Amino acid sequence: MKDQDLRTPLLHQIEEKIQEINFSDQPASLYEPYAYTMEGGGKRIRPLLTMLAAGLCGGKVEASIPAAIAVEVLHNFTLVHDDIMDSADTRRGRPSVFKKWDENIAILSGDLMFADAMRYLHPYGSDDSFSKEEYFELNSTFLNAIVTVCEGQAFDMEFVDREDVSLDEYIRMISGKTAALLAASLKMGGITAHATIPQKDALFQLGMEMGVAFQIQDDLLDATADPEKFGKRPGGDIFEGKKTYLTILALERANADQAKKITSTLEASNPTNEDVEEVLSIMKDLNVLSDVSDILQTHYSHTHQLLNQFEDNEFKKELENLLIFLQNRDH
Ligand code: IPE
Ligand code: IPE
Ligand code: MG
Ligand code: MG
Ligand code: MG
Repeated sequence: MKDQDLRTPLLHQIEEKIQEINFSDQPASLYEPYAYTMEGGGKRIRPLLTMLAAGLCGGKVEASIPAAIAVEVLHNFTLVHDDIMDSADTRRGRPSVFKKWDENIAILSGDLMFADAMRYLHPYGSDDSFSKEEYFELNSTFLNAIVTVCEGQAFDMEFVDREDVSLDEYIRMISGKTAALLAASLKMGGITAHATIPQKDALFQLGMEMGVAFQIQDDLLDATADPEKFGKRPGGDIFEGKKTYLTILALERANADQAKKITSTLEASNPTNEDVEEVLSIMKDLNVLSDVSDILQTHYSHTHQLLNQFEDNEFKKELENLLIFLQNRDH
């Protein structure tokens, strides 16, 4: 268990800082959903990445904490709005914000979280150990990621109405909606450690590859995970007609009858559980689930190679452990 030694205290620090967020009492409809979301668990992957990247580049982990909280708050904001967009009633095993309250409340508390996330970067602007350029780079890395996440989310929704989405288009979409924030989380950790340009570029590239693997795995878990552990509706992507690695590969391999079943289920506004089960069984018959599992393992292998560009230290070891943890995750 010695390998866990570094991650556990970092996770404690993250939880402590989240507890310190100023959730005002009033207006309750604004702040309660914010607190509910932040305190609802989650793996805290992104802030861990920021802190580990800082240590990896020889910086002080302490200095990376505000940036780490900024990325986690931002991530939680994306979940609040994503659940509205995906009509997803459950998140982390509990009602999603728009379900527990309503859509207007989820929109507005999400907006608040977006703005509050930005505020966590302000202290770097008045800290003498950071140059103006570094402060600017922290902000621009963060904002560029947000813009790219929005682009990815827009493709995700546009693809629902398209039958001919290619795997390349899918990779572009997930590079935006998911990988961009993981890449920014790592790079921002590097910036707080005064990392070199090649180090920051390598962190960004690592995050992009990790993010692609992470989203392909999320798609696979959406279809196969134990809902108790995963905390989201099983088969949710099929119910919503999402184009995922699974559905794209299944459509490529399907015969005419199978393709008809998949397409009609994805297009239906209210498919039945039996329809979704049948699509999943077609995916199994076409070896889609096992092949997608292999594909995401290939992406994870690549992340280990990218990480190996860095010199050995305890943070690199912990990042390796984190990659293995992610690779084997069930939620
Ligand atoms: C969920 O992210 C959204 C995706 C990008 C797939 P996580 O799986 O990191 O969510 P939490 O924070 O651990 O709940
Ligand atoms: C997540 O994509 C992307 C963002 C939240 C920006 P999903 O829609 O697949 O995420 P989950 O499955 O709802 O967590
Ligand atoms: Mg979703
Ligand atoms: Mg979504
Ligand atoms: Mg998903």
